[in-house]
Amino acid sequence: MTVEIWWARVRDARPELAADLDDAEKSRLAAYARDEDKARFLLGAAMIRRVLGQRFIKAPAAVKLDRSCPDCSRPHGKVTSEGMQLSVSHSGDLIAVAFHPSTAVGVDVELVDPQIDADSLAGVSLGESEAKYLATLEPGERARAFTTYWTRKEAVVKATGDGIRADLRKVIVSAPDQPPVLVEWPGYGGPVQLVDLQAGHEYAAALAVLSDEAPDVRSIDAGPLLRS
Ligand SMILES: CC(C)(COP(=O)(O)OP(=O)(O)OC[C@H]1O[C@@H](n2cnc3c(N)ncnc32)[C@H](O)[C@@H]1OP(=O)(O)O)[C@@H](O)C(=O)NCCC(=O)NCCS
Ligand SMILES: [Zn+2]
Repeated sequence: MTVEIWWARVRDARPELAADLDDAEKSRLAAYARDEDKARFLLGAAMIRRVLGQRFIKAPAAVKLDRSCPDCSRPHGKVTSEGMQLSVSHSGDLIAVAFHPSTAVGVDVELVDPQIDADSLAGVSLGESEAKYLATLEPGERARAFTTYWTRKEAVVKATGDGIRADLRKVIVSAPDQPPVLVEWPGYGGPVQLVDLQAGHEYAAALAVLSDEAPDVRSIDAGPLLRS
């Protein structure tokens, strides 16, 4: 199976892209206070609409997306569309969208912040064995290691659609220096494949697919599509 990951950068944002969005997306766009947050959201939505528009021969604005949240039904949930499984992530300068025609996907990208307090974050998001591993590392290595754990876990819970409703302390993944696998999560009984993504040395990123089959990842620069 091939999973396409389309990548954009904040500088790819142009005001004209907002014409691709539906009313709910335009309201969300208007509600972001910071220009960078606006750009990240806009680019995620425009990438989905342009890729699906090309695939299904529709105008980007005519692509129907469902973003309803299962908790409150406001349009801030996992984005879904007929005929394509999707997942979006944005952090720092990067925006990624994963696409597969039938298998659920989850992508997570995080800018590694060297200032984060990895030890306290470990208390709320790592299992005991994971926190112990983190504590064996030099303090200067912990931010990246924690963020690798985090993106692997988030990719899994984004693929299942649980998001942060899942207790990440129970989503146990392999250590950052090991190939990525989901070791254990009592909250989900099906198959999961995990892949670390190369997103540049300042970032950690992972893809999860709910399948027995390891995915081939095809990374695509969305720049030309967003300028067309
Ligand atoms: C989405 C989430 C898993 C990760 O967030 P994050 O690391 O801060 O942000 P990312 O950029 O990696 O991911 C954001 C994307 O996740 C998607 N998303 C939202 N809820 C999701 C879920 N339950 N499962 C999978 N994906 C989800 C959205 O498409 C969102 O993109 P958008 O902002 O462009 O619409 C986490 O924020 C979450 O679970 N949010 C839902 C919780 C919430 O706010 N509940 C409110 C209840 S009323
Ligand atoms: Zn909600």
